[in-house]
Amino acid sequence: MRVFPQNQWYVAAWSREVGRDLFARTICGEQIVFYRTLDGRVVALADRCVHRRYPLSLGTLRGDDLECGYHGFTYDCSGTCIQVPGQERVPRTARVRSYRVVEQANWIWVWIGEEAKADLAAVPDNHWLDDPGWTMIGGMAPLPARYQLLVDNLLDLSHETYLHAGFIGTPEVAATPIQTEVDHAEQVLRISRHMHGVECPPFYEKSTGFSTPVDRWQDIEYRPVCSYVLHSRIAPAGVLPGDAGGDTGAVHAKILYGITPETEHSTFDFWAVARDFALGDAEVSDFFERMNQEVVQQDVDALTLLERVIADEEKADAVSEHGRVQELSIAIDAGALAGRKMIREMLASPTPTS
Ligand SMILES: [Fe+2]
Repeated sequence: MRVFPQNQWYVAAWSREVGRDLFARTICGEQIVFYRTLDGRVVALADRCVHRRYPLSLGTLRGDDLECGYHGFTYDCSGTCIQVPGQERVPRTARVRSYRVVEQANWIWVWIGEEAKADLAAVPDNHWLDDPGWTMIGGMAPLPARYQLLVDNLLDLSHETYLHAGFIGTPEVAATPIQTEVDHAEQVLRISRHMHGVECPPFYEKSTGFSTPVDRWQDIEYRPVCSYVLHSRIAPAGVLPGDAGGDTGAVHAKILYGITPETEHSTFDFWAVARDFALGDAEVSDFFERMNQEVVQQDVDALTLLERVIADEEKADAVSEHGRVQELSIAIDAGALAGRKMIREMLASPTPTS
């Protein structure tokens, strides 16, 4: 069975990570080398020379072409070999795979699957990361755990109350039931939690000036596997949402994650927070960055531990039947379980959704 859903866009890198230096990254088990052409376009090629499989990321850029650091096989941006040492004729089959990439609002997305099926219209929306109406901070945390654990984590925000107490967690997050809806046509999972007249978490108290009580909405839009957007709305209690764009008195944050599998047991946790208040305020940005880095690290630490627990249990002989602990799910797991089901269906589907 496949481990990574195919024919999907995955966040491969922040725009700032890819330049004129060769940049190697494994996405869904595929080794890829990224670079920019002289005019700034992003190129993604298989990171293995056709000759002796030497990583091309250890080679050298010659203009827009990539020369292998072992024997000098040279490839153009399409992955076609245009020069080999010691002979004029380049073997017709000498080409490395090239990947479709889209650079959009500070993220570089790569298509994993059949190149011919790459659907440019299906790149998930992340415009808040490059929009004059929003100020953004973000980073990437390498996570030594399978991607499903990060999906579980982000779809069940009740963990904020316990794992992120003192940051974004307050008692009401875990106490408030969620609404879950799967849109099969759009392949999107929506999970909502609307809290009214609740405690303002320190994260927002310091950055908005609001104080308890507040109305706090968390509306998740998840497009498996990679794209996660948490629409967060905070307002002094009782401020009602107006017409589109007219939500006077409320502030909004978009918490984005790009969940990108590296290998079966490791994941890139791309994270960003965009806000529509305190625009351009460096102090608030610094505060958000510090706070969010800690929140992400708390998740990374917990999931690293969980990966070890699960990987140990998967070694069938290592644990006796008595030592095995089954999962037990409750009402708040409805969202995360729906997410797992969507991913299971994508993996089982003979013609993956494109
Ligand atoms: Fe978390």
